[in-house]
Amino acid sequence: MENQGLRKCLHVVLVPAPLQGHISPMLQLGDVLHSKGFSIIVAHTIFNSPNPSNHPEFIFLPISDNLSDHDTSPGNLLALFKSINKNCEEPLRQSLAHIMHQQELGDRVVCIIYDQIMYFSEAVASHLKLPCMNFRTISASFALAYKEIPRLLAEGYIPRQNSMLQDLVPGLFPLRFTDMPTDIGSLEDVIENMELSINTRNYSAIIWNTVDHLEQTALAQFLQPRPVQLFSVGPLHKMASPSSTSLLEVDTSCISWLDKQAPRSVIYVSIGSLAFMEEKELTEMAWGLASSGQPFLWVVRTGSECDSEWKLLPKGFKETIGERGCIVKWAPQRKVLAHDAVGGFWSHCGWNSTLESLSEGVPMICWPCLGDQKVNARYISHEWKVGQQFEHELERNAIKQAIRGLMVNKEGENTRQNAMDIMEKIRFSVNKEGSSYNSLNGLAEFISSFQL
Ligand code: UDX
Repeated sequence: MENQGLRKCLHVVLVPAPLQGHISPMLQLGDVLHSKGFSIIVAHTIFNSPNPSNHPEFIFLPISDNLSDHDTSPGNLLALFKSINKNCEEPLRQSLAHIMHQQELGDRVVCIIYDQIMYFSEAVASHLKLPCMNFRTISASFALAYKEIPRLLAEGYIPRQNSMLQDLVPGLFPLRFTDMPTDIGSLEDVIENMELSINTRNYSAIIWNTVDHLEQTALAQFLQPRPVQLFSVGPLHKMASPSSTSLLEVDTSCISWLDKQAPRSVIYVSIGSLAFMEEKELTEMAWGLASSGQPFLWVVRTGSECDSEWKLLPKGFKETIGERGCIVKWAPQRKVLAHDAVGGFWSHCGWNSTLESLSEGVPMICWPCLGDQKVNARYISHEWKVGQQFEHELERNAIKQAIRGLMVNKEGENTRQNAMDIMEKIRFSVNKEGSSYNSLNGLAEFISSFQL
């Protein structure tokens, strides 16, 4: 308690990347550090800025980002990251220098914690003589695969012919070449981004939104070549307050619909904040869900040009499903996955969705779309065995079979049991004396030590 009082004067600066899957865990980290007594400053871009009214206890510091429409257009992630890192360094440096200059006696900015994508923050920290820490919102398994791309290129394994994509990647079991994140840009851009964002640099510690027991082997690889403090503190959403971290308006009406469904009967379908289904895929998904016979809750994001999700779905679908289906533009996902009625998750396997599903013991059908999702999907299905990978073309019969396979048939039972086992282990890790609980306390002590 005494420590907590002293920490109020210590201001921790958080620099989240402006994407939903990155902002949420950073705000959750801010929330748990605030509960340990620190004052929190969130330095954020204007693009995709978080809603300050959801976190009245934080100070929000908008940073001019000068991003063009081209930078922020969907599907242009590497260009977006590059522009942010080019444009935001000077504005962040000036804003923080101003805050530090204005601070009252006793108050102190003690460190910067930045999302690995926002690596310009390191130069700012060095200029202001502040320690900094690298926060990772991705899985360690993905980061390891990403880190290995230059080696695979040097050894001639990639680029690879389509006919050899099912081969296992040497040194990265259980990944196949088809799971590797080499498709998010040209190989040159992928490697440049990886070297700037993942490789060892001058931070004092890595904070990872993951759980030791899930990713111990991958995490150990990041302690080399130079030993670094590593705090695995996930899943942060299980330790943070339930305040909304959503960039989009949440439709909570689906919870009363869920209340009317039988336990574990509903398949929840969502592919996160970045991926979209093509019109033909939406049609196949709609008829696959209809013929599965299961109740379903489906998040259909519409984009700005379309005001109603129903306009995107096939004629006659609404009448066919009646009350058996619920469709929303954006769901309160963490509440949905924690609801008794939800028995399965058709997921794109973003890391947050993965952690949220594992934390509630909900087994998955993995339909990865981009970036890290294919690596996560392979771990979910082949390492942790808490999901079944959907590797067909998105076609109504295959969708129906996959849903029934997980929700109704015998084959889904083992997957569900494995998901429940992992849920128990995660609960243990966030409770008193669990690995993530202890790691968070260690992190708080580590930050406090910067004032000495
Ligand atoms: C992106 C990448 O796709 C992902 O692979 C990477 O790990 C992080 O950045 P995203 O598509 O946003 O992530 O997926 P994910 O990481 O799962 O994050 C989505 C977040 O949005 C989750 O926290 C989820 O709870 C939330 N969400 C999603 C909602 O609150 N409502 C919804 O309807 C859908």
